[in-house]
Amino acid sequence: MNILLVGSGGREHALAWKIAQSPLVTRLVCAPGNPGMAAAAEIRAVDATDVAGQVALAREIGADLVVVGPESALEVGIADALAEAGIPCFGATAAAARIETSKAFSKDFLARHGLPTAAYGVFEDAAKAKAFLDRFSPPYVIKADGLAAGKGVVIAPTRGEAEAAIDDCLGGRFGKAGARVVIEEFMEGEEASLFALSDGQTSVIFGAAQDHKRAYDNDEGPNTGGMGTYSPTPALTEALVETARTKAIVPTVAGLKSEGMPYRGVLYAGLMLTGEGPKLVEYNARFGDPECQVLMLRLESDLVPYLKACATGTLASLPPPIWRDEAAICVVLAARGYPDAPEKGSVIRGADADFGPDVTVFHAGTARNAAGDLVASGGRVLNVCARGATLKEARERAYAAVARIDWPESFHRTDIGWRALGR
Ligand code: AMP
Ligand code: GLY
Repeated sequence: MNILLVGSGGREHALAWKIAQSPLVTRLVCAPGNPGMAAAAEIRAVDATDVAGQVALAREIGADLVVVGPESALEVGIADALAEAGIPCFGATAAAARIETSKAFSKDFLARHGLPTAAYGVFEDAAKAKAFLDRFSPPYVIKADGLAAGKGVVIAPTRGEAEAAIDDCLGGRFGKAGARVVIEEFMEGEEASLFALSDGQTSVIFGAAQDHKRAYDNDEGPNTGGMGTYSPTPALTEALVETARTKAIVPTVAGLKSEGMPYRGVLYAGLMLTGEGPKLVEYNARFGDPECQVLMLRLESDLVPYLKACATGTLASLPPPIWRDEAAICVVLAARGYPDAPEKGSVIRGADADFGPDVTVFHAGTARNAAGDLVASGGRVLNVCARGATLKEARERAYAAVARIDWPESFHRTDIGWRALGR
């Protein structure tokens, strides 16, 4: 099988690493890819959101399957264009991906189908949005409607800050993404990420992980795309997964199908484990990053048949995926200044050393400079991942590898896994 993998982050490196292990694969091309992925695949310089370029590349390599990593490519219709070209695609159409790309669409969809989530309102008018705050008590949750690279959500401790966030959003801070503002009830609880694959008809649970969204230790500092993950998740018990599956995943897949936009790809449920059971914080139309990294380390089954089955509507014919009975952890090394203004260009040494069979370093925001050195080219730059018999062992292995990487211009959290280890 020839496979084209679209994207260039740590999530895509982890997918490439796993796909490359499949005996079914003859050729794997990643576009635009990154220097880490070059070890597992051919790299081609086509942007993830260059739909025409990606379709042309898929044709050129005779792709039997295109796997789409980032939501940005889904939003601009890569799955629709591939469908037109008759090329199987793991990834949702632009219409179905609105479950992530438009919070207003997503919240309205959840409300239409009576799915468990926070109460909310959507506004284009600041005065009406501010009046709606009366319904809630602090803290207030204010969100830009569209994609804002994880920066569109404000949890405001006071009414004044909530009103300022509304003015900010509708005042153009996020451009088009902030033309509408969503106000939500605050949900209290522990967060977890649950993944399900769907072929438009059926769905299958595909692992769970917990992320650390704040930049610094003790969950302090600004929100980020995620500073580290682990799997399995003791807080998200099998019973809670089953509740989330029947109360959220299954009706979501059925609802999208009945509304004429069957969902093909991975559905990522951001859950809040509240006193009343799991509730949806949000849906994403892609694997989590860096959740995907720990899932790939733990997945025993071949990934490729699952990806292909989602794209071709044959998921029901596959057995449930098998997971290693081990824990996995991912520690993100970020460039100084992330998330606001990451410094680019600093040289990283030792990232490609042999850390032993249980440690894998995925590249996220890396590039090569003219001299051929590995340099930072993004905010989240490396994902140091490890497996172990226990989370504690996995964590020790990951941090031992982190200590061996020579990159003074970086920072990372030293407490990944604290919730699970403290249990
Ligand atoms: P989102 O981009 O919607 O995932 O929001 C980013 C983060 O804000 C989430 O991971 C939660 O930690 C927090 N958050 C979002 N919505 C709520 C809510 N209704 N109640 C409590 N926390 C929330
Ligand atoms: N790690 C969170 C996300 O991918 O949205």
